[in-house]
Amino acid sequence: MSENQHILSIDQGTTSSRAIIFDVKGNNIATSQQEFPQIFPEDGWVEHDPEAIWSSTLEVSREALKAAQAKGANIVTIGITNQRETTVIWDRSTGLPIYNAIVWQDRRTAELCSKLKEQNQEDKVTAKTGLLLDPYFSATKVAWILDNVDGAREKAERGELAFGTIDSFLLWRLTDGQVHATDATNASRTMLYNIHDLQWDNDLLELFNIPASLLPEVKDSAADFGTTSADIFGAPIPIQGIAGDQQAASFGQTCYDAGDIKSTYGTGCFVLLNTGEKPLASKNRLLTTIGYRINGKTSYALEGAIFVSGAAVQWLRDGLKIIKSASETEAMARNLPDNKGVYLVPAFTGLGAPFWDPHARGSIYGLTRDSGPEEIVRATLEAVCYQTRDLFEAMVDDGIEPKALKVDGGMVANNWVMQFLSDTLNLEVDRPAVAETTALGAAYLAGLQHGIYKSLDDIKENWKLDRSFTPVMDEATRKQNLAGWDLAIKRTQYQ
Ligand code: G3P
Repeated sequence: MSENQHILSIDQGTTSSRAIIFDVKGNNIATSQQEFPQIFPEDGWVEHDPEAIWSSTLEVSREALKAAQAKGANIVTIGITNQRETTVIWDRSTGLPIYNAIVWQDRRTAELCSKLKEQNQEDKVTAKTGLLLDPYFSATKVAWILDNVDGAREKAERGELAFGTIDSFLLWRLTDGQVHATDATNASRTMLYNIHDLQWDNDLLELFNIPASLLPEVKDSAADFGTTSADIFGAPIPIQGIAGDQQAASFGQTCYDAGDIKSTYGTGCFVLLNTGEKPLASKNRLLTTIGYRINGKTSYALEGAIFVSGAAVQWLRDGLKIIKSASETEAMARNLPDNKGVYLVPAFTGLGAPFWDPHARGSIYGLTRDSGPEEIVRATLEAVCYQTRDLFEAMVDDGIEPKALKVDGGMVANNWVMQFLSDTLNLEVDRPAVAETTALGAAYLAGLQHGIYKSLDDIKENWKLDRSFTPVMDEATRKQNLAGWDLAIKRTQYQ
């Protein structure tokens, strides 16, 4: 392994685009990050301007490259990771999107999903894709664009349009329209990809009325995806790793063995459990998904997806304006001896796993005259932990007993939350030294394909523990907290 090789990792997330340059040991050499606007055209709708996604990605990549090259870094390969499910359709001849990107959180297709459920289509969809009929996934978003943008369906029938999740769109732009591809993890989130046959599924394309000509080629997560066009970064660089952000985080956490489990606290919270070479079907409405595909071998995962975690703290800051920065929340929560019976359910865009209720909306219970910002802040942080516990309950009921949980994402810097999480789950919580595991995972995939790493064991050596949190809460308090939460969830559900 030559030491002077570096990897550019592009992490295109829900609220910001980031670029990080890593060395072969997984150390961060340079970072650049840019937030971009969130567009909320109607209640429950969430969109992004694909041009803002592209320009922010390009700028942060160029900035990070410049900073790393000034330190003598030698960038040999690129990995891409991305907010998953978010849907873009563009014109193949111009490369221009025909509509804004419809974001994974968007609920506009809830009626269509309900209609398909009434027609008893959910079991078939789940059997093929491992997913549930929820607006979260790409299929109904693609159908919505084709049905609502003037002339889109006709153009699609003529093969003039391309669909992609954000990785595909970026790949198209980075290769100047030469490559229309994605990887197996991103494909597995579209609800059009059969995770057993590892192919786009004709029945599903028919069900959602989507022409096959729109679809990208599906490759392994570590593969030769193409080379950046020379004018983009000065010299062509190969793109050799792609994975959806939650799968990339799991890869960056080195969850390579069946039973390894991680939870990422970004905009939402996503728990992924490696289930090995066999897909495991959940009895409790968890998702079965592709964890990664390397050398044609698929590793599957069981996933619990919660739509809002860090986004709720962002709401405390930008919406309620009761904090100036996320870092204030730790001291505010610590200042209270307990939650004083206040519970906040952040169902701002419905409830994800294991409830899957697109019509539910956020709620606060237990307010009294002396409730103030501290109670609301603490309830928001506690909710993140309770929601994680709901996923764990579902997993335990599916026959899985995790021994410890690896955590990552912005919120894990908050020691109070990590301790409360360990107490609530009654489980050891391990925080790694490198918190940017999502970007790191994409870098590892690219590094593997480039030959920097010879095997997964090579990569595993890079994982270092920062701190372990172990449970200290007494059982009675834990039970009382959970009883309050369970009641709050019951009251919030719409269906
Ligand atoms: O499935 C949506 C997920 O990929 C978004 O991740 O990091 O923006 O919460 P994040």
